Amino acid sequence: MKKIQIINGPNLNLLGKREPTVYGNASFEGYLERLRERYPQCEISYYQSNIEGEMINKIHEIGFTYDGIVLNAGAYTHTSIALRDAIKAVTTPVVEVHISNVHARESFRHVSMISAVCVGVIAGFGLDSYRLAIESFLG
Ligand code: DQA
Repeated sequence: MKKIQIINGPNLNLLGKREPTVYGNASFEGYLERLRERYPQCEISYYQSNIEGEMINKIHEIGFTYDGIVLNAGAYTHTSIALRDAIKAVTTPVVEVHISNVHARESFRHVSMISAVCVGVIAGFGLDSYRLAIESFLG
């Protein structure tokens, strides 16, 4: 059984309510149920925090034992050297995901502090970005 951890960062607890034209109408909880049904061969854990240090603590906690981390760091993607250092510090591979195509949006979203220390980046496929990241750990 592969152990996959999904980590969602700030404001992603509001999925379904937040800017639906950008992030869609679906809540993450409903989507997560479908993901777990689709990948019974994976144990998919989920963690969301609006607090940078809590996200770092979660990466430290599971980052030496899990098979993969799917990380949507939200706006911390564009600012957080501390998150980048945490990703670099652990052995579990991290895939950076974004629901929206950050490269088609404001220029400050074109910069990522974490891409270079992740195994890859998936952006712009809506919630399906998370599924594509999980697929990358199964291959
Ligand atoms: C996001 C893109 C970020 O720029 C933004 O700050 C988010 C969500 C995405 O999933 O598209 O909070 O990571």
